[in-house]
Amino acid sequence: MTILGIETSCDETALALLECNGELPNPRFNVLAEALHSQVNIHKEFGGVFPMMAKREHARNLIPLFKQLLQKAGFDKNDAAHTSKNHSNILKNIGMVLEREPELFKQFSEYIPTIQKPPVDVIAVTQGPGLEPALWVGINFAKALSAFWDIPMLPTNHMEGHLFSVLLNPATSPKDLRFPAVALLISGGHTELILAHDYLSYELIGETRDDAVGEAFDKVARILGLPYPGGPEISKLAQEAREKEYPKTVELPRPMLRSDKLEFSFSGLKTAVLYKTRVLGELSHKQKASIAREFEDAVTDVLVEKTRRALLAHGAKTLIVAGGVSANKHLREAFASLASSLPDIKLLVPELPLSTDNAVMIAMAAYVRLSAGEKAKSTSETQKTIAQGRMGIVPEKA
Ligand code: KG4
Ligand code: ZN
Repeated sequence: MTILGIETSCDETALALLECNGELPNPRFNVLAEALHSQVNIHKEFGGVFPMMAKREHARNLIPLFKQLLQKAGFDKNDAAHTSKNHSNILKNIGMVLEREPELFKQFSEYIPTIQKPPVDVIAVTQGPGLEPALWVGINFAKALSAFWDIPMLPTNHMEGHLFSVLLNPATSPKDLRFPAVALLISGGHTELILAHDYLSYELIGETRDDAVGEAFDKVARILGLPYPGGPEISKLAQEAREKEYPKTVELPRPMLRSDKLEFSFSGLKTAVLYKTRVLGELSHKQKASIAREFEDAVTDVLVEKTRRALLAHGAKTLIVAGGVSANKHLREAFASLASSLPDIKLLVPELPLSTDNAVMIAMAAYVRLSAGEKAKSTSETQKTIAQGRMGIVPEKA
């Protein structure tokens, strides 16, 4: 089956077309095409993501990206005959759905009726968690396509997307995912330890009390005068400090390392960086790199230790580490050595481009749900949704 994935929960506008086959535990995914636009350059000057600006950019970029996507997949066939007769009626209803995205509606009306319905079986769209204004754009775009072409849609959870992003890594096989599994999901908005009993049966066993790890990376980068997003910048400097053996500039705490709970806290760590750097005055490049290294080490120590306890406490067979922060090289190495130090634990991580937000993982998570027996919203339901204007599928609260 062919699934169109749509992801607009934060600052990436992402679309993907996947051919999905096979049954659990051995699903097979083939990426037919991908189109992704990062808004990083726009949000950079503000040092973080502005929800209303993210929304505007998603609305502006979805149709151009969709065009690119169809072209890459060879699905951009002209429909000169305009075969669907009651376009104007459907477009009127779609106008209601996209009433708060007039620019998107204009582009939609100009482009979509000129092409043939692509061979897509299901539209998977991120429902949440994420920035509500940004989520609305993707959801409304999905509703509009679903109504126009009579394609069922499946609202999809962003974190489930990160979780199943590991199923496409060629270094491992989907069959390596054995249960119980422990997943550490680390992104800009979340730091969660999940215990999965089966594909869709899981529970939260630990999370952060305050800042998410990615957020801490971004805030510490800001303190050090590095651009947004801070994760890759900190990682680069930290690596330099390790390779060149720069002396330690500051000593940072390992928050909650000794607590038995599987909870995290990163806000104090960020504040410690702030106070300790303040007394140092203007920081040299070497000092910045050394602080980046100590910060990365502190985060790694805590994440690895809590994850180790979770794996042992639950007799896990698989460890999944996913989400934007899992792109971090040092962390990947630390988790690889954790997994190899424990008998019978297989580590699954996403391929690097699938660590940060993307639509491939959204289509994959939808396929896992469909394979487990969940039904996509049928056309008649979508039509009902359209009749209800902006009601029906709504963003999930963060
Ligand atoms: O999953 P993601 O793309 O978006 C959210 O769902 O939040 O994660 C983004 C986060 C950002 O905070 C970014 O700084 C962090 O992932 N990140 C990294 C690295 N690459 C991205 N953090 C540490 N090291 C990296 N190499
Ligand atoms: Zn994410």
